[in-house]
Amino acid sequence: MSVVGLERVVYGVEDLVLARRFFAEWGLWPEGDLLRAGDGTGVELRAKDDPALPAAVEPGSTVREIVWGVENRAALDGLAARLEGKTTLRRGSGGGIAFTDPAGFGVALAETERRPLAAVEIAVNTPERRARLDRVGAFYRQAAPRRLGHVVLQVPDIAAVEGFYCDVLGFRVSDRYPGRGVFLRGRAEADHHQLFLLQSADGAAHFHHLAFEVHDVHEVFGGGLAFAKRGWETHIGPGRHVISSCYFWYFRSPCGGSVEYFADMDSLTDAWQPREMPQSPEWFAEWALADGIRQYGGVQQ
Ligand SMILES: [Fe+2]
Repeated sequence: MSVVGLERVVYGVEDLVLARRFFAEWGLWPEGDLLRAGDGTGVELRAKDDPALPAAVEPGSTVREIVWGVENRAALDGLAARLEGKTTLRRGSGGGIAFTDPAGFGVALAETERRPLAAVEIAVNTPERRARLDRVGAFYRQAAPRRLGHVVLQVPDIAAVEGFYCDVLGFRVSDRYPGRGVFLRGRAEADHHQLFLLQSADGAAHFHHLAFEVHDVHEVFGGGLAFAKRGWETHIGPGRHVISSCYFWYFRSPCGGSVEYFADMDSLTDAWQPREMPQSPEWFAEWALADGIRQYGGVQQ
């Protein structure tokens, strides 16, 4: 009876044409109102004033509903029972349930429709083992995000929101900046974080960023280079996080907040012991560039 991961994020935007172009050039596959990553997870784009959308936590283009996938109907019914009396339940799309979390974000639960991804070997030559013989390494001219990874929200009362996701929806704590932020995952065996809650500085809720997993570090660099070349603005990156170990590159989004390419995140099990660390630049990144990288020459294949 646990959350598998992000299924879909619904945005309400001021400029639908710009929003569609942004996520198509990001590397998602357009399908009606949806733009999908490799496993079928993705974003849904709606006009900001669409009356069917849940209320926004902030003005302008932003996230309006975060849809979490659960394994099956029994898991959905079990979580619905736990939510009774804690919040007001609405009928969600596709037979799911929808509600509002304590920070005011629209949230929904639905049976997951994500497709399994075919395993692809990453051949890396190390001093001890030459795994790639007579083949050149990977170069990417364009990212093709494989799946939605995590969402980051700034919330006014972090303890209340953490309590809701952990006590009611079964999320687990992976790591914590005491009093400042908490990294959560939907179940014991999952990415290091699927939901990261940050204490809001101004006492209001804000959407911070949405992250998409790509195949490897080369796709973070190659995909980010291609996206920057189309004129989209880097927020921060590329770089490498210390917490969760992944490579990242964040871009500012016309749909609100930022979007992130990431690769090689720590994957946890029940054996993981949550840590506590200060919120500091040293824990944010081993290294990071503030404003992207420039293409030097190009891919010649
Ligand atoms: Fe992230």
